[in-house]
Amino acid sequence: MMTRHFLNLSDAGGDAIAAMISDAIDRKAARLAAGLPRGAADKDAPLAGRTLAMIFEKNSTRTRVSFDMAIRQLGGTSLILDGSTSQLGRGETIADTARVLSRMVDAIMIRTDDHAKIEEMARHATVPVINGLTDDSHPCQIVADLLTVIEHGVALPGSQWAWLGDGNNVLHSIIEAAGLFKFDVRVGVPEGYEPDPRFGAQASARGATITLMRDAAQAAAGADVVVTDTWISMGQAGGEEKLKAMMPYQVTASLMAQAKPTAKFLHCLPAHREEEVTAEVIDGPQSVIWDEAENRLHAQKSVLLWAFGLLG
Ligand code: CP
Ligand code: NVA
Repeated sequence: MMTRHFLNLSDAGGDAIAAMISDAIDRKAARLAAGLPRGAADKDAPLAGRTLAMIFEKNSTRTRVSFDMAIRQLGGTSLILDGSTSQLGRGETIADTARVLSRMVDAIMIRTDDHAKIEEMARHATVPVINGLTDDSHPCQIVADLLTVIEHGVALPGSQWAWLGDGNNVLHSIIEAAGLFKFDVRVGVPEGYEPDPRFGAQASARGATITLMRDAAQAAAGADVVVTDTWISMGQAGGEEKLKAMMPYQVTASLMAQAKPTAKFLHCLPAHREEEVTAEVIDGPQSVIWDEAENRLHAQKSVLLWAFGLLG
């Protein structure tokens, strides 16, 4: 079998992601039923003896902890390389790092800036490479998001999603998921901050409807899922001008009232209350952000199992 890399959702495809979500639901339920402590391995420990190396060139809480706990629960172990204290930080190439790690560990997860770097790593690694976020995309987050909305009763095909705010990496992966699972995304975004059109074109070609809108209320109207994220992503310049442009897209209670009464609110976190979302919404009854955060763990386990050829 070819080495499986997970750089974007399309690397696995819709059927494999559906299998990941289904396995995550089963494993989550089985652990709950067995009353296992978080550090204990699942009964089958399918990744016993495997080691995941995690490279962080940007900060992380959820991705770091969820991958670490995920591989432990699957019976394996992990190690963390910090971008600045490894030789990567002194200019050793991505290609050489990939070759060396491939001789010592069983899989690599990397969080970095330029997406071309992770593509370079995948070209030179002989073990699976997993995208823990780049400037372009955040596929692991979206596996968790899909799992979360499904658990909360949303049937993906034909569902309506509203994204409010910056056209960023998380949105790109949502748009990619829309193409794979045939749901529609209305993007409320100010001029100059639109998502990369490549993702929209790919999703449209697969039958999803991706619509850019300037009016936030129109974007949210009738939505099943309302999503936002920080207005200034890691590595972005930001500034007063951007914050001002984003303000009309803040997710407020009155904006949520435009969506379906059953609509769920998602945010990948970390959040900036009173910027992209009010405290009333993020801490309110429609918000499912803590389930979403927990589901990073369950989703990561499925991504690892897929990468090792045990799923999909
Ligand atoms: N949502 C997410 O990826 O969080 P971290 O930056 O904490 O990993
Ligand atoms: N868009 C955010 C997501 C953080 C998990 C960023 O890239 O900083």
